[in-house]
Amino acid sequence: MAIRQLPPNLINRIAAGEVVERPASVVKELVENAIDAGAARIDVTASAGGLQLIRVADDGTGMSEADLELAVERHATSKLAGDDLSHILTLGFRGEALPSIGAVARLTITSRAQGAREAYTIAVDGGRKAPLKPAARASGTEVEVRDLFYATPARLKFMKSERAEAAAIADIVKRLALAHPEIAFSLSNGERTTLRLEACPPGLLDHALSRLGRILGSDFVEDALPVQATRNGVRVEGFAGLPTLHRPNGLNIYLVVNGRPVRYKLIAGTVRAAYGDLVPRGRYPMLALFLDVPPEEVDVNVHPAKTELRFRDANGVRSLLIGAVREALGAAGHRATGSLSQDALQRMMPPSGMSSAQPSGARSYQSYARPGRAGFAERAQSPLQGVDAPSADMRGAAEEDETPADYPLGAARAQVQDTFIIAETGDALVIVDQHAAHERLVYERLKQSASNGGIARQILLIPEVVELDGEAVAALLSAAAELESLGLVIESFGAQALAVREMPALLGTCDAKGLLSDLAGTLLEAEDGGGAKVLADRVDHVLSTMACHGSVRAGRRLSPQEMNALLRDMEKTPFSGQCNHGRPTYVELKLTDIEKLFQRR
Ligand SMILES: Nc1ncnc2c1ncn2[C@@H]1O[C@H](COP(=O)(O)OP(=O)(O)OP(=O)(O)O)[C@@H](O)[C@H]1O
Ligand SMILES: [Mg+2]
Repeated sequence: MAIRQLPPNLINRIAAGEVVERPASVVKELVENAIDAGAARIDVTASAGGLQLIRVADDGTGMSEADLELAVERHATSKLAGDDLSHILTLGFRGEALPSIGAVARLTITSRAQGAREAYTIAVDGGRKAPLKPAARASGTEVEVRDLFYATPARLKFMKSERAEAAAIADIVKRLALAHPEIAFSLSNGERTTLRLEACPPGLLDHALSRLGRILGSDFVEDALPVQATRNGVRVEGFAGLPTLHRPNGLNIYLVVNGRPVRYKLIAGTVRAAYGDLVPRGRYPMLALFLDVPPEEVDVNVHPAKTELRFRDANGVRSLLIGAVREALGAAGHRATGSLSQDALQRMMPPSGMSSAQPSGARSYQSYARPGRAGFAERAQSPLQGVDAPSADMRGAAEEDETPADYPLGAARAQVQDTFIIAETGDALVIVDQHAAHERLVYERLKQSASNGGIARQILLIPEVVELDGEAVAALLSAAAELESLGLVIESFGAQALAVREMPALLGTCDAKGLLSDLAGTLLEAEDGGGAKVLADRVDHVLSTMACHGSVRAGRRLSPQEMNALLRDMEKTPFSGQCNHGRPTYVELKLTDIEKLFQRR
């Protein structure tokens, strides 16, 4: 077949394939245009998942008669003053969105320029442009898109359910709204308004939190830690959710770069690095970060849909983000998720309609207790390792000194089921999971001493021989040098066994067999991850496994001094609000809430 030059209509449809992937992409382009036009309010309607009708109305600058005529032409834009693509300050710049939409749907634009006496309307139907007509409208622009993809039936076949498309539209409107709190937004499905956001006064950290709350939920606002840092002209501001507030996917991670929301993919690795071992595997934190970068430092011309961008100094941006988030999380210290206590209280409430004589406490207890925790009574005599327990002669004094209001986690009052510590603060009751808490403390200690030049070891009087399968033995031996640097000295003892000579002192008298087989598992899993698994990450895993074994288990009776020492240590230790598996280490129940439970308020 001979080569031919394609007709403009076909060119437009092909180009549209990249820009307009689904109804949500139309919404994105139209809302971006409204934002670029300086709108103070933007109203979006999308019925039948946007396949039937999408309407975006704004009160921005509007377009003159001549501009309106040009707006629907390919490669026509008002947003590039010169020939420079390195100083883009607007969301649009390609001059492609409107002609692309017009090529695959029935597009009508009605607009009145600010200060103009008349409004005009123009229609493009499957790529055919109709003549401009006068119309009536207040200043601003209204764009209507009907029967999306009617001109490209192949694409129409690929649409998901209306509900899925509606959800994608809501997601994109929320992302854009989050990026522009100064603009009021509404979203309707044609029958009712599903989202209404009032404009927030400028000043991100002070005011935008209310919009974040509307978008990410009030849980997030309660547990959001302010993030702020600047380096080399790049500024990051925003909020990081506490690690105990996690979700099954990355949909609640928002990154806005120069007013442009970008895909989660772009910061997936950064977020993982920042939260590291604080969030359980396979779970995602909640995060909203706003990055201000000099325009010449980012390239936004990467993808036709403008959903991706590149940083000139990607590593610099990455380390700025990681540092800022880590700092915010570190500053939060032992704080755990406030929403946890709400959950706990809700579980304690007698179900409505049921007699309150029902002992609901038993149910709530069940939800904390994890199976396989009993039977460690033999450990009861060994001292708590890794906790600054007061020496014997100080104990009496320590007991009298603890008064509830003195400390954030209060004074220990009791131990329940040899598993939970009940403490009292000035205004709340605190329930601590002793194993989870101690595990985190031991882990942080191990990490600290590992980075401060070495983990103290204790030599076993008689080396302990541990039998393991051949694979585990091989994995452990090949990591012997690394393990030694972390305080664990092992030697070969035949094909199916190892001798343990020295152990990290912090672990106390721990079960060597359990520790080694878990460590082998950790090492083998890390190998599966390929060579890409960074060493630091692997070390963290080894330390975390060690901590788990070196920690006071549930089922161990603690003295009041030990309990208080544990609480004081939690207050001092960063990240002690959750254990190494991301589970919370304690729950705080406010007295006011408890009073409500008993209907005293
Ligand atoms: N809501 C609006 N208010 C005022 N002017 C608008 C509006 N929407 C579009 N325009 C004008 O129409 C032009 C073309 O819009 P279009 O979205 O096709 O391209 P763009 O925004 O310039 O670039 P991109 O293709 O990257 O979105 C814009 O440059 C702008 O001048
Ligand atoms: Mg545009």
